[in-house]
Amino acid sequence: AQLAQLQEALLRWYAACRRDLPWRNTRDAYAIWVSEVMLQQTRVDTVLRYYDRFLQRFPTPVALAEAPSDDVLAMWSGLGYYRRARLLHRGAQAVAEQGGALPSNRTGLLDVPGIGRYTSGAIASIAFGEAVGLVDGNVARVLARLFAIDEDMRKAGMRTAEKLADKIVAKQDPGAWNQALMELGATVCSPVKPACHKCPVSTMCRARAEQRTSELPVLSPK
Ligand code: ADE
Repeated sequence: AQLAQLQEALLRWYAACRRDLPWRNTRDAYAIWVSEVMLQQTRVDTVLRYYDRFLQRFPTPVALAEAPSDDVLAMWSGLGYYRRARLLHRGAQAVAEQGGALPSNRTGLLDVPGIGRYTSGAIASIAFGEAVGLVDGNVARVLARLFAIDEDMRKAGMRTAEKLADKIVAKQDPGAWNQALMELGATVCSPVKPACHKCPVSTMCRARAEQRTSELPVLSPK
């Protein structure tokens, strides 16, 4: 019952404040893959200048797979973290060899080189509606506070959060749910001085109730 409340409050908040971003208007697994890889280390404003152009030039995994590395890196130029582009390229080549379509569930996606726990969860939930969670840095912080996870989020706490994320995913719309958690972490549940007065789930937050928001998440030095 508590969980249903949490889901409803967060999904309603997300529906109301959700920004209209190009990768939120597609269910194409490849397009979502590209967006998630770009968004991993780059701000939304910057990704917006690259996303459409990249997909026009490489509209499918096969198109990307067949392109020379230099072309791929050229389209990535300015986004930084070029290792991501190389991994995406290699992943597309593996997908192309398997027939050109991305696997349609998390387990299959995890077999694609370069697709890890976060990216597989994002593609599976957003493109295919699979009821799986995902944990990036923002979600880790939100979950650590909501459930007062005392473990180190750079160690055991991450696994705890991943199990929790799978358990609490809103089955009616897993993609929206995961994006709502990420958005809450990015805009409200900030590392320093979270805006709890703007938070749709503050009444259900254990860190808030225990006045421990500044102590959570626990993060060991990198
Ligand atoms: N950060 C990375 N991917 C995201 C998404 N799909 N929604 C919100 N924040 C994100």
